[in-house]
Amino acid sequence: MLGRQYGAMNLPVAQDLSGQVALVTGANTGIGRITARELARRGADVFLATRSLARTQPVLDEIAQLTGRPAAHWIELDLADLASVRTCAERFLAAGRPLHLLVNNAGLGGQRGLTRDGFEMTFGVNHIGHFLLTQLLRERLLASAPARVVTVASRAHQWAPGLDWDALRQPTRSLTGIREYMVSKLANVLFSAELGRQLAGSGVSTYAVHPGVVDTEIWRQVPRLLRPLLKLRGLRDPEQGAQTTLYCALQAPPQETGRYYADSALKTPSRLAQDPRLAAELWRFSKQILS
Ligand SMILES: NC(=O)c1ccc[n+]([C@@H]2O[C@H](COP(=O)([O-])OP(=O)(O)OC[C@H]3O[C@@H](n4cnc5c(N)ncnc54)[C@H](OP(=O)(O)O)[C@@H]3O)[C@@H](O)[C@H]2O)c1
Repeated sequence: MLGRQYGAMNLPVAQDLSGQVALVTGANTGIGRITARELARRGADVFLATRSLARTQPVLDEIAQLTGRPAAHWIELDLADLASVRTCAERFLAAGRPLHLLVNNAGLGGQRGLTRDGFEMTFGVNHIGHFLLTQLLRERLLASAPARVVTVASRAHQWAPGLDWDALRQPTRSLTGIREYMVSKLANVLFSAELGRQLAGSGVSTYAVHPGVVDTEIWRQVPRLLRPLLKLRGLRDPEQGAQTTLYCALQAPPQETGRYYADSALKTPSRLAQDPRLAAELWRFSKQILS
């Protein structure tokens, strides 16, 4: 019944996540909102890491009503500001909770500019902010194993021409920001793979996800005239869009750590996304923010 009430969720609702703690970035809307709600519905305590309490309150209320318990907690996070990422991680760690599931879901596309810390805007938010957050929570994930890190990437990664280290430190060059979005999503897949390699045997497994083309606010920057084209590509609703994230969070085999998933199944990412040397180079580049 619940499955029908909450849309076409193919995953078992009865799965019991009592005692499990999850943190989902960008949980106020779109795919992140459904992900947080479905985890809480299965018994997890969920931290909703977002920029705005006002925009998150309806989701907090929805989860409280659905679960009948204070299952959702707000934690402020602006991925375009590394000081905010540090504060978010400090607050989570200070709460003294384990962390069984980190969902690096937040993302933007089509915005131009530079983050506070001098990274190209889309790369800075989609990759660098999540890189730092994951690094700061890494020890807690390890101490909570078995644990998982799910990073919401995109099939758009396959059109990224590569990583231009200079461009990643400059304001968005393309007019639409689409090229930079592809690059940021390539970084998501490389990051997840490299993290999987580093954490092999630790009990923490990692997954990169393509959610499909989903009817969410991510398209807010796309000119209205172009939006009908998206419909032609078979837009999914956010419930369907959260399926693969939830599959990786709940069911994907731990031994498939570091791999890439779409439609709740293993997929082969682009040639560049499979390059361990490029992944290691990206790791070295990203690590500069840790010093
Ligand atoms: N929708 C698709 O077709 C599609 C396809 C492939 C991949 N994806 C990926 O799926 C993920 C979720 O996107 P969605 O489709 O659910 O889009 P969405 O509805 O636009 O949600 C994106 C979320 O990211 C948050 N966010 C943006 N900038 C942020 C920042 N600086 N700091 C913290 N949070 C920030 C947004 O917060 P605000 O509400 O405060 O802006 C929002 O919660 C993204 O990583 C996206 O790239 C989506």
